Amino acid sequence: MTVRRVAIFAVLVAAGACDESPGFTERELKILSNYTNLGKQSEASLVAGLDGAVELGQALYFDCNLSAPLPADSDLGLAGDTGTISCNTCHDLEQGGADARLGAPTSLGVGGFVGVNVPTVYNSGWRETWGWTAKHTSLRSQISVPLEMAPHALTRAEVAAYIEANYSDEYLALGLPFDGSNCEDSVGEDCVFSNVAEILEAYVRTLRSEDSRFDRHMNPKNRDVLTDEEIRGAKLFIGRASCNECHNGPTFSDDRHHNIGVSQIGGTWNEGVVITEGEHKMELGHFPTPTLRNVGKTAPYMHNGLTDGLWDVVDFYRFGGHDTGYPGTKSDLIQPLNLSEEDVDDIVAFLKSLDEIPDIDEETGRDLKLPPEIYDDTRTCR
Ligand code: HEC
Ligand code: HEC
Repeated sequence: MTVRRVAIFAVLVAAGACDESPGFTERELKILSNYTNLGKQSEASLVAGLDGAVELGQALYFDCNLSAPLPADSDLGLAGDTGTISCNTCHDLEQGGADARLGAPTSLGVGGFVGVNVPTVYNSGWRETWGWTAKHTSLRSQISVPLEMAPHALTRAEVAAYIEANYSDEYLALGLPFDGSNCEDSVGEDCVFSNVAEILEAYVRTLRSEDSRFDRHMNPKNRDVLTDEEIRGAKLFIGRASCNECHNGPTFSDDRHHNIGVSQIGGTWNEGVVITEGEHKMELGHFPTPTLRNVGKTAPYMHNGLTDGLWDVVDFYRFGGHDTGYPGTKSDLIQPLNLSEEDVDDIVAFLKSLDEIPDIDEETGRDLKLPPEIYDDTRTCR
C-alpha cells in the first residue's frame, strides 16, 4: 500500500467511526426541533381564566363520590358500595395519565368494563379529536361521556345535585347558576351538567407534559441529556423506521387516523373511526394516532390493549403489523422494517425518554397531580 492509500484508508476509518458517534446531524436536529414545545392550544374552556375554575375542576377530577353506587359486585367492591371511581382512577396522573390498575387490557368502571384501552389525559388539550373513534370534536363533549356512561354511571340530574350539595360555593363563585339558565343550547340540569364538563375541561387543559429528557436535549444549551442508545433510537424513529410518518409534532401524533394492522376481533369498537359515505362504511379499522409522550408509563398499548410491552409494540412494527380483519384498509406506510433486535432496544429507549410527569404547574405553582385543598378526606377513593 502506498503512503497515499494508507492515508485515504485512515480517513475512511475515521469517517466510519464518526458515523457511529451518536450525535444528531443538523438535518436530524431540524426535524426533531418540530417535536418539542407544545405552544398554545387552539381552544379553551368557556370558564378558563375565571378564578377558581381550575381548582374546582381539579377537585372534581379526584372526587370518588362523583360516581354511582356499584350496581353489582366487581373488582371495585360489592354491590351498593359508593366512592369507587374518580377520573383519576382510570387516568392516574402519577402513572402517565392512564390506568395503572394492571391486569386487564381495558378498564373497569362502575358499570363494568369499558370497551377500549384508556388513553392518557396529559396533553389532551392539544388534540383535535378525542376518543379512539375520533367521535368527539370538542374536549368537553369527550369529558361528559364517562360521567353518564359506564365509568361513573350517573345521570345528569345526579351530577347537578351532587355539585349543589358539595361544591355550591365554588360553583357559584364562578358566576354559574344552579337553575341552569346560562347555556345557549340546554336548560336546567342539562345545563348544570354541561357547566361541570366545562369546569373539568378547564383543569384537564392544564395537564401538560413537555419537559421530558428528550425536550431538555432539544434545548441547544443542553445537548448532553440523551444517552447514546436513546439518540440512536431517535435517529431510527425519524429515519429507517419512519415512525414519524404518523407520530410527529410536539405531541408525537399527526391527529389523523390509520389502520396499522392491529388485529381486529370484531365488534363495533374495533371498527374505529368510521366515516360513512351513503350506506357504505369507509376506513374500517382506522384508529387515531396516539401521543407517544409518557408512553413508557401507559401500558397496555393500542386501542384494545393488545400488549403490555413497548418492546412488543416496536417488534409488531418490525414485522409490518398483523393481518387486519378489514382487508384493503391497512396503511401502505406499515411495511416490514429492516430493524435488528438492538435497533428495537434503541427505539424503546428513545420512547422512554419522552416520559415526564410534571411536578408543579409553572403558571400557578401548584401540584396538579394531587387533590386540591378545597377537597376533604371523605371524597377520597375507597
Ligand atoms: C373507567 C375508566 C374511565 C374513567 C373513570 C374516566 N375515563 Fe376518560 N377515558 C376512558 C376511556 C376508555 C377513554 C377512551 C374512550 C373512547 O375511545 O371513546 C377515555 C378518554 C378520555 C379522554 C380523551 C383522551 C384522548 O386522547 O382521546 C379524556 C380527555 C378523558 N377521558 C377525560 C376523563 C375525565 C375528565 C374523566 C372524569 C370525569 C374521565 N375521563 C373518567 C376511561 C375512563
Ligand atoms: C401509519 C401511521 C403510523 C406509523 C408509521 C407508526 N405508527 Fe405507531 N400508531 C399509529 C396508530 C394509528 C396507533 C394506534 C393503533 C390502534 O390502537 O389500533 C399507533 C400506536 C402506537 C403505540 C401505542 C401507543 C399507545 O398509547 O397505545 C406506540 C408505542 C407506537 N405506535 C409507536 C410507533 C413506533 C415506534 C413506530 C415506528 C416503528 C410507529 N409507531 C409507526 C400510527 C402509526
